[in-house]
Amino acid sequence: MSEHPTLFELSRPGRRGAEPPEPDASLPSLADCLAEENLRQEPSGLPEVAESSTVRHYTRLSSLNMSIDTNFYPLGSCTMKYNPRINEVAASDPGFSHVHPLCEDNELQGYLELFSRLEEMLAEISGLPHVSLQPAAGAHGELASLMMIKARCRERGELERDVVLIPDSAHGTNPSSCTIAGFKTRNINSGEDGTIDLDSLREALGPDVAAMMITNPNTLGIFESGIDEISSLLHEAGALLYMDGANMNAILGITRPGDFGVDVMHFNLHKTMSTPHGGGGPGSGPIAVTDELEPYLPVPRIVRSEDGLELCSDRPLSIGKVRSFFGNSGILVRAYAFIRAHGPEELRGISEHAVLNANYIRHRLEQAYHLPYDTPCMHEVVFTAKKQKAGGIRALDIAKRLIDLGYHPPTIYFPLVVHEALMIEPTETETPETLDRFCEAMLQIAREAEENPDLLKAAPVTQVVKRLDEVNAVKTPILTCPCDEQPSEAETG
Ligand SMILES: Cc1ncc(COP(=O)(O)O)c(C=O)c1O
Repeated sequence: MSEHPTLFELSRPGRRGAEPPEPDASLPSLADCLAEENLRQEPSGLPEVAESSTVRHYTRLSSLNMSIDTNFYPLGSCTMKYNPRINEVAASDPGFSHVHPLCEDNELQGYLELFSRLEEMLAEISGLPHVSLQPAAGAHGELASLMMIKARCRERGELERDVVLIPDSAHGTNPSSCTIAGFKTRNINSGEDGTIDLDSLREALGPDVAAMMITNPNTLGIFESGIDEISSLLHEAGALLYMDGANMNAILGITRPGDFGVDVMHFNLHKTMSTPHGGGGPGSGPIAVTDELEPYLPVPRIVRSEDGLELCSDRPLSIGKVRSFFGNSGILVRAYAFIRAHGPEELRGISEHAVLNANYIRHRLEQAYHLPYDTPCMHEVVFTAKKQKAGGIRALDIAKRLIDLGYHPPTIYFPLVVHEALMIEPTETETPETLDRFCEAMLQIAREAEENPDLLKAAPVTQVVKRLDEVNAVKTPILTCPCDEQPSEAETG
């Protein structure tokens, strides 16, 4: 029996957690309804475990994990901030959570009003007049937007425009979305200061370019100060400017993408506007567009008529449906509650504090860790392990040692243009005391890298799962845990 047995290891034939009621004899049985070949011939092999053991099993597993509710979680690019519980209350209100997605429009007026107002608020925040809430994640928003750009090229008879420009610091979803949408990608180099190199952009622009995807602030945590020129260059060449809005937490209420020339963007509501995020979802990636792109937005659109709000799908230029029903509606409720609770002034305060916190960490750690770009940062700061690497310590070792000291590691080895990157995003929701404790831990690790490097190479030593051979774990995963020993009575409950 392993130290942390799986439910399958705890299983004993005949043991039950809950007894389902006997089937109603007056109703046809499942066996009467299904064809013989669809009936299971053998028992399913599900674990047979007492309810108490099951509860203890999952409670123990949940306590082995790090989460934003238990630990500081400075995972750069992911904006892992505290999510106010009140938004959970709003999303679980039966008026929202019990609505059937196939209700008629006239039975959905409350929900549609919320969606419509959220669209208006995101339009105001982005500076772009039209919004669709349909995409279910950032990458999905990218894909929907690129499909719209493709549809626009088709409509204008510009099929030769089949290239999208992407800076070398971009998130991996950007080129993937381009490829899925049927575009080729062309790389744009970053300059010495981490922003887009305008000469590289000028060289890459041509009649085959449909759009450029930028992230602003970019994934190095730096604002693209040449954004006006970038947008002019693209528009003069007949191409569009797409903005990956995953980093909106840095600019809420301070500047608006629509005002600096962006034609289409996505939000990551699950980063910027509440919603517990991590572990793979769920997400929400609304898109905001100019008047010119509005006809191509996915259906259904919410329209106001004399009878109230309606869902309209009669839109000949639309790229069609990208998601069943209304997108990830619970996340939309959380985002609405989050924006309303803050109001315009406080939204700006969110970004100001997120930027201040990142620069505080930058300042406290700049002697101990190498800074690849020596400019003030926005909401996240990218260090490297260059100084520690001389002694054989890598970013991975620093990240693993942080786990021992009680912190979720920052993002490492991203963006790809920075060697040994350590990307720290504190967000606005952390107290100065937490930031100080985290900085002390990072300074301690920098000292340990010199005095006791083996400690870092062995880390984490305090966790159930110690240092993994990560390549082997991916290439030869062991997904079952065969157990020969019998568990003791105490273990099986
Ligand atoms: C800059 C950037 N763009 C796009 C994405 C993709 O968003 P999602 O994970 O919601 O698909 C991410 C996600 O981490 C990101 O950081």
